[in-house]
Amino acid sequence: MKAKPDWDAAQYLRFEDERTRPPADLLARVPLSEPKRCIDLGCGPGNSTELVAARFPGAVTEGLDSSPDMLEKARKRLPNLSFVIGDVNSWSDAAGYDLIFANAVLQWLPDHQGLFPRLARSLTSGGCLAVQMPNNLSEPSHVSMDEAAAEGPWAHRLANARASKAVIGSFSDYRRWLMEAGCEVDIWQTTYVHALAGHDAIVEWFKSTGLKPYIDPLPAEEREAFLASYREKIAAAYPLEPDGKVLLRFPRLFILAVRG
Ligand SMILES: C[S@@+](CC[C@H](N)C(=O)[O-])C[C@H]1O[C@@H](n2cnc3c(N)ncnc32)[C@H](O)[C@@H]1O
Repeated sequence: MKAKPDWDAAQYLRFEDERTRPPADLLARVPLSEPKRCIDLGCGPGNSTELVAARFPGAVTEGLDSSPDMLEKARKRLPNLSFVIGDVNSWSDAAGYDLIFANAVLQWLPDHQGLFPRLARSLTSGGCLAVQMPNNLSEPSHVSMDEAAAEGPWAHRLANARASKAVIGSFSDYRRWLMEAGCEVDIWQTTYVHALAGHDAIVEWFKSTGLKPYIDPLPAEEREAFLASYREKIAAAYPLEPDGKVLLRFPRLFILAVRG
């Protein structure tokens, strides 16, 4: 069987400043003063874990991720913290965490109606689940992925890629699911506007995340042709600013749930 393509930590970290801003904004709203146990689910290269550990130096903070490459980077970055390999799809914890932090990971997982209450049940009483997910499937950046996938000779190969995208629920869905799990819920959405160096930068940004389900299944030659077709659509959708930059609009959904 073909090995599942791993995440590429170096490619992900090319936009580290921009990618670390949403977890900082999320953490700023976490209403805890002295949590004892914190976990960063989908910790990636440790950028979000570092924020959690710095905000709560008295807590034991751990990271969990399914990618060996990401975990290797995280361990190098934060050698005093514990990082474990694991799958959030099957994760739960009976002892309970005071903070479950999940920045930019749950959008990759199916069945949010089952997942969010399950995560809430792994909180201590008064514990907080803090989630941020991109909510950008209707943006040109993502519509262009589907269009490029449907138009090329790779269409049959990418049929599942389009279908396997996680479904992001409505504000009302998350509020209801988490309230039913005994939580107080706070939800907001922010559109970040990233001034990037040009159209290629948009392609590079998504190569390590949203484009993965499209390019991972393709052989090298088709991958390049697919990316060229995607880039053409991006160039048409994002006008150049007078200084040569492009403005990437990036809506992100934030959810805080505190268990009663
Ligand atoms: C976009 S990165 C987010 C990294 C970091 N949390 C941050 O704030 O920048 C998504 C991470 O989720 C991990 N991931 C994806 N699906 C996962 C799963 N089912 N279980 C655990 N980790 C997963 C990936 O390996 C990747 O490191």
